[in-house]
Amino acid sequence: MTSISRIVAAGLTVAVVTGAAFAASHLDPIVAAGITARQSHMKLYQHNIAVLGAMAQGNIDYDADAAAAAAGNLAALSTLNQSTYWPLGSDSASVEGTRALPAIWENGDDVMAKAAALAEAAAALNAVAGSGLAEMQAALGPVGQACGACHQTYRKRDDG
Ligand code: HEC
Repeated sequence: MTSISRIVAAGLTVAVVTGAAFAASHLDPIVAAGITARQSHMKLYQHNIAVLGAMAQGNIDYDADAAAAAAGNLAALSTLNQSTYWPLGSDSASVEGTRALPAIWENGDDVMAKAAALAEAAAALNAVAGSGLAEMQAALGPVGQACGACHQTYRKRDDG
């Protein structure tokens, strides 16, 4: 039995015994910590890209310093080593509370390539974000696309 199917089997047992989904507190601590870390990392991406998106859409005034700060954060975040975020058994088929699809653990090279594509786009954005609204807008699109490309394949949709 693979470790993933063992965890799935364990999950079924718990579900039968309690008749309920896993509570986060019942998760293996390493699994729980990985899920918390990656979701927190994603929230930081979201926070910083939202600032740039609001400027790009004209909802707030373009501010070169603020744009450079947000782009610098995105670029820095995208270069962190994230390998400990993805412990075996922390996929959406094994536990509740995550939208990370099992395909992540089957396609490690492609996941890394998608993470690298984001790092590249974020570095390009960081190079121009403080240089003007038009420059920042043009470089923001590829960053959003890099986020979306990974979500498309590896993040479970909200509706199921
Ligand atoms: C290499 C793949 C990948 C890339 C690149 C990526 N994400 Fe994600 N993202 C995921 C996965 C997988 C999840 C689901 C994580 C979970 O629920 O455990 C996720 C979840 C999220 C969430 C929900 C977090 C939560 O609180 O549950 C947000 C917001 C998010 N991503 C934003 C972004 C943004 C913004 C970017 C680009 C700057 C980005 N992501 C880039 C894979 C990626």
